[in-house]
Amino acid sequence: MKIVVIGGTGLIGSKVVQKLGAHGQQAVAASPDSGVNTVTGEGLAEVLKGASVVVDVSNAPSWEDAAVLKFFETSTRNLLTNEATAAVGHHVALSVVGTDRLSESGYFRAKIAQEKLIKESSIPYSIVHATQFFEFLKGLADISLDGDKVHLPPVLFQPMAADDVASGVARIAVGPPVNGIVEIGGPEQFRVDELVRRRLASLKDPREVIADPQARYSGAELGERTLLPGNNGRLGETRFEDWLKSPASQPPKAKLPSAAAATATKRG
Ligand SMILES: NC(=O)c1ccc[n+]([C@@H]2O[C@H](COP(=O)([O-])OP(=O)(O)OC[C@H]3O[C@@H](n4cnc5c(N)ncnc54)[C@H](OP(=O)(O)O)[C@@H]3O)[C@@H](O)[C@H]2O)c1
Repeated sequence: MKIVVIGGTGLIGSKVVQKLGAHGQQAVAASPDSGVNTVTGEGLAEVLKGASVVVDVSNAPSWEDAAVLKFFETSTRNLLTNEATAAVGHHVALSVVGTDRLSESGYFRAKIAQEKLIKESSIPYSIVHATQFFEFLKGLADISLDGDKVHLPPVLFQPMAADDVASGVARIAVGPPVNGIVEIGGPEQFRVDELVRRRLASLKDPREVIADPQARYSGAELGERTLLPGNNGRLGETRFEDWLKSPASQPPKAKLPSAAAATATKRG
């Protein structure tokens, strides 16, 4: 089966491509680097020829309110139109547990708009709602800075390893469309401030994390259980302490410009 993975070079996308390939599927990674741009439409018609499934695990380059809304609306419209022409039978998109409860946030308004377009289209679909990735805990600190301190609400969440997210997405991509939402999450619950504090300590990041009930998550106020999946959520296996000991917890190496990369390789 030909499965096109939009955002196939990203954190989740590269793992989805690898997992689908290992299970004998023809997984094609599509992103601007490979000449496929869902915002401009470049390369879309060509890459979708003969595809049975499209997995959209792309993300916007800018999370500013207007920019992120424009990205997800334009990209999703272009995708769905081209999928209809190519007779694609299943559109799978990755979104976030609790998205519908987070409309105070510009980022989540964009994800709500993305999901609405998918639900209203003629293409059979599955929307995967995942909880926060362990790999995103430092990013969560970065977007929650107030002065030099990280302010986070001490509410519950159930984060998961990116590898388990990719397994969940790949499994759904090879199954029948559910025409609804499937929730996936991690095996353990934590307080948001507590886990971000532990992650920063593991990175020897000196920033202090303050438990602040007034603090917002990406601009949205959170209740005790806003970020938790419901009872039918499918749970990944990787526990936080095991992930911390694994290579996946190492910070990604900074991308080098190609000339510098060539020099670095020559130097060994
Ligand atoms: N962070 C979390 O905790 C969390 C939780 C649940 C769900 N999610 C969702 O997971 C999804 C994937 O996140 P991620 O962290 O894996 O993303 P990521 O690593 O930032 O990767 C984003 C991908 O999108 C591609 N892309 C950007 N602009 C594009 C365009 N115009 N056309 C085609 N592809 C484009 C990028 O290509 P280049 O590399 O070429 O730029 C890259 O492959 C997001 O939709 C997010 O909402 C995130």
